[in-house]
Amino acid sequence: MAKLTIEGNHPLSGEIKISGAKNSAVALLPAAVLAHEKSTIYNVPEISDIEYLIDIMNLLNCKVTHEGDALVVDTSNLQNKPIPEELSVQMRASYYFMGALLAKFGRVEMSFPGGCNIGARPIDIHIKGFEELGAHVEIIKNRYIITANKLVGKRIYFDFPSVGATINVMLAATGAYGTTIIENAATEPEIVNVASFLMNMGIEVRGAGTKRIEIVGTKETKEGIIEVFPDRIETGTFIIMGALIGDNLKIKGIIKEHNEALLMKLDEIGVKYKINNDVMTISKCEHLKATKIKTLVFPGFPTDLQQPITTLLTQAEGKSIVEETIYENRFKNTYDLNRMGAQTSILTLNKLEVIGPRKLVGTKVIATDLRGGASLLIAGLIAEGTTEIENSEYIQRGYSNLVTKLTKVGAVIKASE
Ligand code: EPZ
Repeated sequence: MAKLTIEGNHPLSGEIKISGAKNSAVALLPAAVLAHEKSTIYNVPEISDIEYLIDIMNLLNCKVTHEGDALVVDTSNLQNKPIPEELSVQMRASYYFMGALLAKFGRVEMSFPGGCNIGARPIDIHIKGFEELGAHVEIIKNRYIITANKLVGKRIYFDFPSVGATINVMLAATGAYGTTIIENAATEPEIVNVASFLMNMGIEVRGAGTKRIEIVGTKETKEGIIEVFPDRIETGTFIIMGALIGDNLKIKGIIKEHNEALLMKLDEIGVKYKINNDVMTISKCEHLKATKIKTLVFPGFPTDLQQPITTLLTQAEGKSIVEETIYENRFKNTYDLNRMGAQTSILTLNKLEVIGPRKLVGTKVIATDLRGGASLLIAGLIAEGTTEIENSEYIQRGYSNLVTKLTKVGAVIKASE
């Protein structure tokens, strides 16, 4: 298993450039199935989830070539094939092939998707959306077989503004006759990134980024072209590191509007920073104040930064409360944080108490999921002594070239098998 070894207490200074957003890129690649023959996707992050998606595209007889930070996707010989478990289970985002292949061919067969074990993560809202459009969904063992003689656009209400379901049903709706309206849609920036890609292909999409999205189905599309937005969660993770151990750390490529909730919370906690265009300069702050964090759908505080900010709260003076409203099992990182010296306690299934400040001491820890691993990495950067993180492939999934980026700004960090 991959391991990261971190020697704590080395201030971070210099410039880190934010990469393309994982949660946009993993939707844009399957969406390329809808383009006419070719797509170019710029600013793609170098993460294992993208490589797994390229394996699925190759299975579907698409050629994907790296050109600098871009992926050129040739779908001129696209073939519909069942997606086997060994590929679909590698990540949650494999499920975007459902909406894309359903729109393109009226049929998709694939095994259950994978994803970090932070909760049950059903896909009932996706399935309901497909059925509303006229698809028939069968589950045989752990495989989905989704067919539609004819997809017909209609008004669909989401019981919960699911990011994945919004994107997946948006993709399926591109192949429906007439217009589909998604009510109570997710408004995360990733939705806008995918909608822009579809519009560049000549598909009419209105309202992406709001709770009401209209998609006009079509069979005619043009070549696709898009640039992946900067990753707002990678941005937030580096900002939190900067607040704890930065020395004029510069974070380049931020989109302030995508991180407002975090920035407002950091203001409350007493973190000082400067933002000039798309560059933030941030240094270690003394006397951090305890606060309350409640994760919500965008533009609320992002659940993906809940575990990273928990590490910051271990250094805040007083008692903080972290309330996780999106997932039911996203505190697993606190076990190892406590072994490093933090004082956190799980009050209820979705409420955590953090008492600080507590001195952290490096030790051997295990990443339980992507952002939980990031939380332990941040702890390792500020801990006394050396921290070894096992199962660090979780972390490499969501943060491209992490060791290179951190080493460049002064961290003492090594990856090994
Ligand atoms: C996306 O997951 C992200 N993953 C997650 O990031 C992120 O935490 C999440 O959006 C929320 O922002 C990708 O984009 C690949 P949801 P997704 O559908 O689409 C429940 C990371 O660390 N739900 O908005 O799966 C679900 O169980 C990852 O980068 C249903 O009940 O998120 C969860 O509790 C982790 N039924 C909640 O909604 C459904 O059909 C949010 O899920 C769909 C979701």
